[in-house]
Amino acid sequence: MRAEVAVVDGKNPDRGIIEKAGQILKNGGLVAFPTETVYGLGGNALDPEASIKIYAAKGRPSDNPLIVHIAEMGSLEKIAADIPEKARILAGKYWPGPLTMILPKAAIVPGETTGGLDSVAVRFPSDPVAQALIRAAGGFVAAPSANTSGRPSPTRAEHVEEDLGDAIDMILDGGPVGIGLESTIVDFTEKVPVVLRPGYISLEMLEETLGEVRMDRGLLITDENIRPKAPGMKYRHYAPAADLSVVEGPQEKVIAFINQRAKEAAEAGGRTGIIATDETAGRYEEGIVRSIGSREEEEGIARHLYEVLRNFDSDQVSEIYSEAFYTPKMGQAIMNRLLKAAGHKVIHIPEEEEK
Ligand code: TXA
Ligand code: MG
Repeated sequence: MRAEVAVVDGKNPDRGIIEKAGQILKNGGLVAFPTETVYGLGGNALDPEASIKIYAAKGRPSDNPLIVHIAEMGSLEKIAADIPEKARILAGKYWPGPLTMILPKAAIVPGETTGGLDSVAVRFPSDPVAQALIRAAGGFVAAPSANTSGRPSPTRAEHVEEDLGDAIDMILDGGPVGIGLESTIVDFTEKVPVVLRPGYISLEMLEETLGEVRMDRGLLITDENIRPKAPGMKYRHYAPAADLSVVEGPQEKVIAFINQRAKEAAEAGGRTGIIATDETAGRYEEGIVRSIGSREEEEGIARHLYEVLRNFDSDQVSEIYSEAFYTPKMGQAIMNRLLKAAGHKVIHIPEEEEK
């Protein structure tokens, strides 16, 4: 069956449509919906069968737990067994918003939803459509990003349709999302809070509120033996179909290097994809060049990343080169996703010829 696509006003969604979508979730069905980060694929979080359906629709390994979405602060007490003071403070500051907290789970949350873990990931999104749907569904919606497992997360309803149109019941189209990268995940099951996935809420913002915060070692080190604690962070992910490499170094040298590679590929009959910026796009001579936005506007870079990666899939490029985007605030999150999409293939061009 093909999913029904319902266009809704992103700020003030139609009650009738929300009621219908909520009913689908209550009956054990699946509905994709916008959030401020990326589109989510929702199912009733307290219904083990619904969670099983989510894994099947995405083709996702079932050891990779889902985030439970809530739409009022009081709901947290019902699904988390033990809530440290610091978690309450952080929720007070950033909820509703692009923050997910890992806490010990309460008994009503089925193991199917948490990938068998004793902890549960909880998020209170700020998006009005998401909030309305969660309320209409009874208050607890399990939702991973609404992409086929391994593909870039969807930032528009069209991306969801492309990946999951045949696998789910309904898609709420609230237009393009605002942030474009998934929520920051903070783990509160250890003494010191740990960032398991960087996002719009940066390490610096967390430290300002919480004091000491660590980054998961699996995020910092590309050593295969150190596994990220969030099961989902260990997979190659967000990835376009073509082979992607990130080229970093002085801008002029990066442009020259990519031009050289694209020229060689063209001579061999291939086609290269290039991820550039507004400032550099005109400097590339071969291949399909896509600008991710201006270097002066990092939120735009974050918002466009997945769409740019996804669009290369329809161009039949054989390889993609991307500039690096170590921007001041969201650079950590942007580069985390880009490097994962590249399977950590980085070409580093030194400042000067090394002796
Ligand atoms: O912005 C977001 O968080 C989006 C929107 C839809 O809310 N959702 C999202 O879900 O990104 P998903 O399933 O694509 O990513 C959830 C991540 C995975 O890496 C998963 O392994 C991790 O959260 N996770 C979930 N529960 C966990 C737990 N109990 N312990 C550690 N990691 C957990
Ligand atoms: Mg995901």
